[in-house]
Amino acid sequence: MRLGINIDHIATLRQARRINLISPIQAAKICLEGGADSIVAHLREDRRHIQDKDIYELREKINCPLNMEMSINNQIVNVAMEARPNVSTLVPERRQELTTEGGLDIVGNQRKISQVVRKLQSRAIKVSLFIDPKETQIQAARDIGAQIIELHTGNYAQARNAGERKKTLEQLKITAAFGRKLGLKVAAGHGLDYSNVLPIAKIKDIEELNIGYSIICQAVFVGLFEAVKQMRMILDKTL
Ligand code: PXP
Repeated sequence: MRLGINIDHIATLRQARRINLISPIQAAKICLEGGADSIVAHLREDRRHIQDKDIYELREKINCPLNMEMSINNQIVNVAMEARPNVSTLVPERRQELTTEGGLDIVGNQRKISQVVRKLQSRAIKVSLFIDPKETQIQAARDIGAQIIELHTGNYAQARNAGERKKTLEQLKITAAFGRKLGLKVAAGHGLDYSNVLPIAKIKDIEELNIGYSIICQAVFVGLFEAVKQMRMILDKTL
């Protein structure tokens, strides 16, 4: 199972004081040493954490796959066109949200999203679409030419009881298999932590998990290298 680490909240810490006592570049290096396979950073329209210059620097200074999360806003798309991350993950964005709250509605916005997909792909950037685990959305993602889907694991992570957890896990298994059958690479993420990640990591049709918040929180207590290593060890239990 590949592990992508989202380093947005390293930038959140820096932005709290706007001084460079902590840097996403430094964090990315440590994540890779600890066992990450790729680095994920979300350049939000409101620039609340990651800044444009972080994306360029990650691209220039770190030799690893970079996954840039982004909305389909023109200005943000232009940064991607210039920086050329390995993957752009398109996500919905609302200003007041604390984090990405739901998947992209590909079915309802097919034309608009497909234009951005084609534009990014013209620069050899692979496109991933962050969607809810629903077959209609997966089919639409495939129809507009995305190479990767990332299934939103938020409902699973926030399940209020064992029944809900089982149901949401089953839905992720079924939809991951559906995506794979359509020839898509399947990733997943959102709300995953040390206690809930294993059942997701065991889903054979999912190739990659993207995890951020829980690892950065754990890093406060054990250090970033150790926090990444601990997550890596859980994922390696599935080998
Ligand atoms: N994947 C996507 C597309 C996301 O938007 C996020 C949150 O930025 C994550 C994964 C990581 O979620 P978390 O920080 O809850 O682990």
